[in-house]
Amino acid sequence: MPAHAVPRAVVFDAYGTLLDVHAAVARHAARIGPQAAALSALWRARQIEYSWILSAVGDYEPFIELTARALDHAMAVHGVADAALRADLLAAYRRLDAYPDAAATLTSLCARGLGTAILSNGSPEMLVDAVAAGGLGALLDAVLSVDPLRRYKPAPAIYALATERFACTPAEIAFVSSNPWDAYGAARFGFRVFWVNRAGAPAEYGLDRSATMIASLAALVDAL
Ligand code: LAC
Repeated sequence: MPAHAVPRAVVFDAYGTLLDVHAAVARHAARIGPQAAALSALWRARQIEYSWILSAVGDYEPFIELTARALDHAMAVHGVADAALRADLLAAYRRLDAYPDAAATLTSLCARGLGTAILSNGSPEMLVDAVAAGGLGALLDAVLSVDPLRRYKPAPAIYALATERFACTPAEIAFVSSNPWDAYGAARFGFRVFWVNRAGAPAEYGLDRSATMIASLAALVDAL
């Protein structure tokens, strides 16, 4: 496919890309105190780390369980022992805020006749809740979880779920992720990658060469 040909489908990472992973802690920040942001960052870091380590050793546990375990660790590190808060944070994680430009971007892509999907490490039940909470259901042709393969991104087999779903080659998929390691895995698989770099972070994993950097989801429509 020529570099600027219209893609067959646009496939999105979920957590951190369409959904604000820090929205759960933000909703309950007053109950956590000044360490709320650090707790949220550690929660996310451990959640992802656990997925990589399990994949590396050939084990699998659902993302919903890794999410709970990572929260337990983050709360322990920050000395937060509050069972009701734990339950509220996990419930909030099931209904994270979508980024404000998510629905409008998907609407534009649908209007162009492009396929749209999520491809996520999230457990199917998490993704069902998240898509409903974000009001994104009618804007997505598919919500693909890694769960049937019992492995996590960035394993190449995961990205193949998208090419199978849309019956196309990797080069015909535009893949959108805010997570550099995910963008790297997607580019390596052969997708045309758009790295959502909201914070203006320095490029890593060679993304300055292998991906198109965009500052927001809204910027995607013109960048395609
Ligand atoms: C996702 C997480 C890992 O796959 O960002 O949605």
